[in-house]
Amino acid sequence: MKTIPRHVAVIMDGNGRWAQSRNLPRLAGHEQGSKSIRQCVEACMETGVEFLTLYAFSSENWKRPALEVSGLMLLLERFLNEKKEEMLREGVRLRAIGRLEDLPPPCRRKLQEVCDATKNNTRLQVILALSYSGRTEILDAVKSIARDATEGSLCAEDVTPDLIASRLYTDGIPDPDLLIRTSGEMRISNFLLWQLSYTEIHVTKKLWPDFGKADFLEALEDFNGRSRRFGGV
Ligand code: FPP
Repeated sequence: MKTIPRHVAVIMDGNGRWAQSRNLPRLAGHEQGSKSIRQCVEACMETGVEFLTLYAFSSENWKRPALEVSGLMLLLERFLNEKKEEMLREGVRLRAIGRLEDLPPPCRRKLQEVCDATKNNTRLQVILALSYSGRTEILDAVKSIARDATEGSLCAEDVTPDLIASRLYTDGIPDPDLLIRTSGEMRISNFLLWQLSYTEIHVTKKLWPDFGKADFLEALEDFNGRSRRFGGV
């Protein structure tokens, strides 16, 4: 492959449908879905992708039945417990974006622990979007700029795209080159609204729990065939 995207973002959709089609509880789909994460992480390490952002839980997902929400939080905690040593061994840095203060305290503490423990790793950065909403992220950035303007430390002319980017949760992370969405839906679903401006989009009908390394490589192939002009000719 000629060009490897530096940053791949993924909307991991279809866990519920995967479970329903097998007469299993929705959580079984999420559990199987967490295995697909491992496949993608491996594919990133093998191909040299530097950043992988995963939409694991949106702000809107809090509206799901309490049992599904608590099951997802437990799954996240288990995932963090199980993967910590492996991430340390493999040189993976874990980061998280979103309103992390909304997460149950044990989950938040574990997340902080793994992010801290892996913060010097540089081989691959895995960024979990949790209690994440693109609009809220932009709202938080605008509020912080407005506060500085009120205090007088900046004026309207100082507000540039770079300044806005620096107030987002993704400060310092390059914009995604490729967005993968599973389960065939053609939507952005409030994910990385600012950062996806020039991102190539690959949609596959495969449901997330069925998505494996070969599917990730197929998405990279698709990306290789694109001509990115960033609005130029
Ligand atoms: C969307 O499928 C998926 C989610 C809302 C959660 C994604 C979570 C995981 C892949 C596993 C847990 C994450 C970690 C980091 C351990 P859906 O439930 O909306 O599927 P549907 O559209 O078919 O109902």
